[in-house]
Amino acid sequence: MNYQYTLMKGQKTCMVKIDIQLFSEKKIGEAKKELYSSFIEHMGRAIYSGIYEPDHVTAQEDGFRRDVVDLVKDLSVSYVRYPGGNFVSEYHWKDGIGDKSKRPVLPSLSWHQMEPNLVGIDEFLVWCELTNTQPILAVNMGTGTPQEAFELLQYCNGREGYWAELRKQNGHPEPYNIKYWCIGNEMDGEWQIGNLSAEAYAEKAKCTAKMMKAYDPSIKLIACGSSSFEMPSFPQWDRTVLRVCFDYIDYISCHRYYQYDKKTGKGKKEFIGAYQNLHKGINTLKDVIREVCAEKGVDKPIKISMDEWNIWYCGEGSEAVNEWTVAVAREETKFSRLDAAVFASLISTLHNNTDMVDIACLAQLVNVIAPIFTIKGGEAIKQTIYYPFGYAARYMKGDVLACEVKAPEIDAGDYGSTVGGQASVVRTKEGLTLLYSNLTDSEQEMPLTGEWTRYAPSEHMFMSASGEKAGEALPSADIVPERHSLKGNEETLRFAPYSWNLITLKVKEE
Ligand code: AHR
Repeated sequence: MNYQYTLMKGQKTCMVKIDIQLFSEKKIGEAKKELYSSFIEHMGRAIYSGIYEPDHVTAQEDGFRRDVVDLVKDLSVSYVRYPGGNFVSEYHWKDGIGDKSKRPVLPSLSWHQMEPNLVGIDEFLVWCELTNTQPILAVNMGTGTPQEAFELLQYCNGREGYWAELRKQNGHPEPYNIKYWCIGNEMDGEWQIGNLSAEAYAEKAKCTAKMMKAYDPSIKLIACGSSSFEMPSFPQWDRTVLRVCFDYIDYISCHRYYQYDKKTGKGKKEFIGAYQNLHKGINTLKDVIREVCAEKGVDKPIKISMDEWNIWYCGEGSEAVNEWTVAVAREETKFSRLDAAVFASLISTLHNNTDMVDIACLAQLVNVIAPIFTIKGGEAIKQTIYYPFGYAARYMKGDVLACEVKAPEIDAGDYGSTVGGQASVVRTKEGLTLLYSNLTDSEQEMPLTGEWTRYAPSEHMFMSASGEKAGEALPSADIVPERHSLKGNEETLRFAPYSWNLITLKVKEE
């Protein structure tokens, strides 16, 4: 039994048979809620006129837009990294607490705009409660000190003492008990305020981590790894940081964004095969972690926090004028359907590396390179990447099972030749969820044979970029995926060209 896609009507593509072999006894790792985290920075319109817009019709007394709150909840985001990003390397958290009328308005050098400090740590944590999310807080390792980071920890998690008392005076009697902390951001990058050599960062991070863990051993610390696999210092930077900080940290971070030139098409082959590059980079980092663990003679499982990842057309959607004002548009990437298909292949790659990738933050959440786009005084819109993220977050928590895609290869340019489809499978309470990206211009058909015969397909959600022109103006409204209920007796699954597909399957009754 097959089913037709309404999207395919009138479109001629060729059909290619593929196979996705499932190894249901081979568990790779666990896709935990942490894998569906995101990131909000004081950058562009992420905070001001993004999540916070007191004059908006949906805003309440706290200034937060409830339409955005609802979309964040619906996206099933678990943790949100805050307040940066590059911004954190110049941010002094004490500027953002207490009486709002007394807070300083300051220039932010990272993003050339003004920071009014109307949202600070306490307000952000109120927003986390509204959105059913939890924070991952980053501390300033640029212009900040280990002492300042330690004081922030006392302010957030302390029961007694000066900083805890100050939090109580500011209206928050109970400690926030924040679990995850990033020790700085991209400290290897020349663009970072106060960037350091690997050795200097490692020593500063170690001192910070030592102080923070001595005060609250329950917290989990994330040290800065290289800011990209493309950095010349990767992975030597990571090796140095791991060696020096080994006893005090729980995670090493890793960031990666992908794009191509939409006007000339340059880099498009690599873009479509990006999952291959992500997989390779993560695995180089895994090797370094294993190497340092072996050197130390310890089997301590330091894990990876992929705490910035996305597709990012750098420079797109940025206002050049009106600098040094609040809420300047910065990096408001508009995502296409093709972006969504590639994006989903990156999610699958994260799933397939959950033996060591434990946390992943989609960068970012609102307006800046984000699944949610807001119009000041107007609507909040879901971008194409909203759906694969939201569906994966909702339907793909659990054990990740090994699978292998057998499909014709594609030319991924500098990344070499790679399989024209990427998949991941998660075991759920009901059965399985398959996420599959068809990265070719052909329709693909997969037989439900072998281990798949134990499961009945239930729902198929998908979006295809078939017929979409690169760089075409996207409508300023949600682009919604198709959603099909399946009968359960289908013998094949079909995947439209350049599409992402999420299929839920139920265990068949004996
Ligand atoms: O997410 C946007 C920026 O990208 C972040 O501020 C920085 O950490 C990264 O380079």
